[in-house]
Amino acid sequence: MSAGPAISVDRDLVARSIEAFARHGAHGETGVWRTVYSPAWVAAADHYAELGREFGLKVRQDAVGNVWATLPGTEPGPAVVSGSHIDSQRPGGRYDGVLGVLGALIALRTLRERFGQPRRTLEAVALCEEEASRFPGAMFWGSRAICGLIEPDEPERITGYEPETIADAMRAIGLDPAAIPFAKRTDIDVFIELHIEQGPILEHTGHPVGIVDAITGIRHYTVTLEGDSNHAGAFPMDLRRDPMAGAAEIISGVINTAHRMGRPTVTTVGRFAAEPGGPAIVPQRVTFTIDARHRVPEQRQLLYRRHEGLMREVAARRDLEISWDDPIDQEPGPCDPGIVALLQTAARERGLDAPTMPSGAVHDTLVMGRFARTGMIFVRSKDGRSHTPEEFSSTEDCALGIGLLADALYRLAY
Ligand code: GLV
Ligand code: MN
Ligand code: MN
Repeated sequence: MSAGPAISVDRDLVARSIEAFARHGAHGETGVWRTVYSPAWVAAADHYAELGREFGLKVRQDAVGNVWATLPGTEPGPAVVSGSHIDSQRPGGRYDGVLGVLGALIALRTLRERFGQPRRTLEAVALCEEEASRFPGAMFWGSRAICGLIEPDEPERITGYEPETIADAMRAIGLDPAAIPFAKRTDIDVFIELHIEQGPILEHTGHPVGIVDAITGIRHYTVTLEGDSNHAGAFPMDLRRDPMAGAAEIISGVINTAHRMGRPTVTTVGRFAAEPGGPAIVPQRVTFTIDARHRVPEQRQLLYRRHEGLMREVAARRDLEISWDDPIDQEPGPCDPGIVALLQTAARERGLDAPTMPSGAVHDTLVMGRFARTGMIFVRSKDGRSHTPEEFSSTEDCALGIGLLADALYRLAY
């Protein structure tokens, strides 16, 4: 590992690239709605490939739809990779994922222009899917494919919010779900992801950039409560089996549990539907999601035991049928201490005070960490906003984060 220069990147290029990328799936003034394998997603993937070629990199798309841009090294051996995801929440902002995919490309272009060919192969990657915003069971689809962690039956089994499977969505854009195993890589040594923080900590402490040492664990529940549909006026309260009443109790209960357990416990109910959904009808069925996270494995399990205990208790007391599944369940994971130390050194040597911090959001890095040495750089989010079109990070902060990424890649590959 060599010591590195403090690399600065072209701020105009950063601003221009983020702006241009936000056109794909533009939603309102500042938002983005770009779910995996949608037309907006295809345009974004094509745009990424074009940019990679324009920057002098070798571009290819793998079997699951990840787009890779490579700067080959003079020596053989496993690659040093940086990237993030190009899908978005619905709607999301223009920085989540995109900062990391464009940041990796810009870092490689800057390194190539300034220092020529690296010793070790460098790659930038636009991962196809991280948000689970079209297919609730598909979170980390791109990074899971790279790590060989997609089960053979998953493409046909995973259904979306619309009546479709992820295999259908792949076929519709010319990707063969049976070919997913070919996306597997066993030659990645390091994966570094640049990402917006998505919370308020860096802003509160007055730091433009942070270094991540650990990523939270997550579980998503999809809960269905079923009772009896009845007349809202004629059917007495004491005789009802009202799933809405049960859901209200469960929802406020799980949120209170997270409050009581204190930081960093979090629980969110972000999606809810009642059927048949008439003001004058006691619902037959309600379904809702619970997103519950903790970065300490034992506390995470305790949180889930409490949530599940409450769901059972409320359903039994109210004589409702309850069922749930957990389409997402991911253990927390540390970043690689060596890569964290390298990032800390690179920051210090460029005179940047970048605090080390955990991530309360999940990232592809969590999956890549199963097989590669991983690290993450966070860039300050205005007002801590994210997963909303309000998301914003300044060009100056983004360019600083990309500069630090380039420093780290230089140290690893030159
Ligand atoms: C990632 O998008 C997350 O939900 O943390
Ligand atoms: Mn993200
Ligand atoms: Mn996200």
